[in-house]
Amino acid sequence: MSSSTAQQDLTAYVNGAFVPLEDATIHIEDRGFQFADGIYEVVACFGGNFLDLQPHLERLQRSSEGVRIPLPCSLNHIAELVQQTYERNPFKDAMVYIQITRGAAPRSHLPHGELTPTLIITSRLLPKPSDAKLATGIKAITLQDIRWKRCEIKSIALLASVLGKQEAALKDADEAFWLDEEAHVLEGCSTNILAVIDGALVTHPLDHQVLGGITRNMAIRVAKEHGLTVVERPWKLSEANLTEAMMSSTTNAVMPIHCINEQMIGDGKPGKLTMQIRSWMLEAMDALRSA
Ligand SMILES: Cc1ncc(COP(=O)(O)O)c(C=O)c1O
Repeated sequence: MSSSTAQQDLTAYVNGAFVPLEDATIHIEDRGFQFADGIYEVVACFGGNFLDLQPHLERLQRSSEGVRIPLPCSLNHIAELVQQTYERNPFKDAMVYIQITRGAAPRSHLPHGELTPTLIITSRLLPKPSDAKLATGIKAITLQDIRWKRCEIKSIALLASVLGKQEAALKDADEAFWLDEEAHVLEGCSTNILAVIDGALVTHPLDHQVLGGITRNMAIRVAKEHGLTVVERPWKLSEANLTEAMMSSTTNAVMPIHCINEQMIGDGKPGKLTMQIRSWMLEAMDALRSA
């Protein structure tokens, strides 16, 4: 089914019930709305089989511990609800969103008493990266990092990322990558970034400045399995022998980047290793579809 599937055909899970998406509502005093006091996950499903569901659930648990929002039920139960939400919606290849907030309460920064967390789960068509973009690679910009210092938590507070994406769109680019104060490249607004430098796959190490992307891990895993050298270290766009760049995310696998701030990457075409890594990743996804 297409992304234009009517809203009324879609079902959401909201706090214990499956409801038509149109009727899916939460309280106006939900702390997610008032304070962006919540966390989320996005998992891809290929023909009924989830990609790396367990690592996504484990990251959800880490996020929940990081912001002291108790999970409303066990991870196993969340996994069941994710499965059911997928099944109640019409998409074969889907991205399933899990969003958890601290719950609804009269507005006060300090949460008082025991709140009941809000849990919502929705399923949408998994968008396919455009063939045109894959053929040329995407264009990107860099911005000084203006985000908070706990980027390893998958928080629903995404205003900086919204601004970054707007800034990129104004420059006719698809993604903005955040730079630290020394111009190391951290990650994108909704993606991780990996480069090929001196023939090795290089990406920023996991710390408070980057989200531990599940797709980043997959790219690293397949690269190592095929004998490539992977180095997790801070890196800069100005480095000699930087020949390729790619961004990774659940909805993209890896996507080549052909230019950043008008600086051509390598020969300005999608990199060979990038496309090789992408095809190894797609094999794993196709295997899920036919499993
Ligand atoms: C800031 C940020 N970095 C990286 C990613 C990629 O993470 P994943 O590969 O788990 O989708 C995302 C995804 O939403 C993100 O928001």
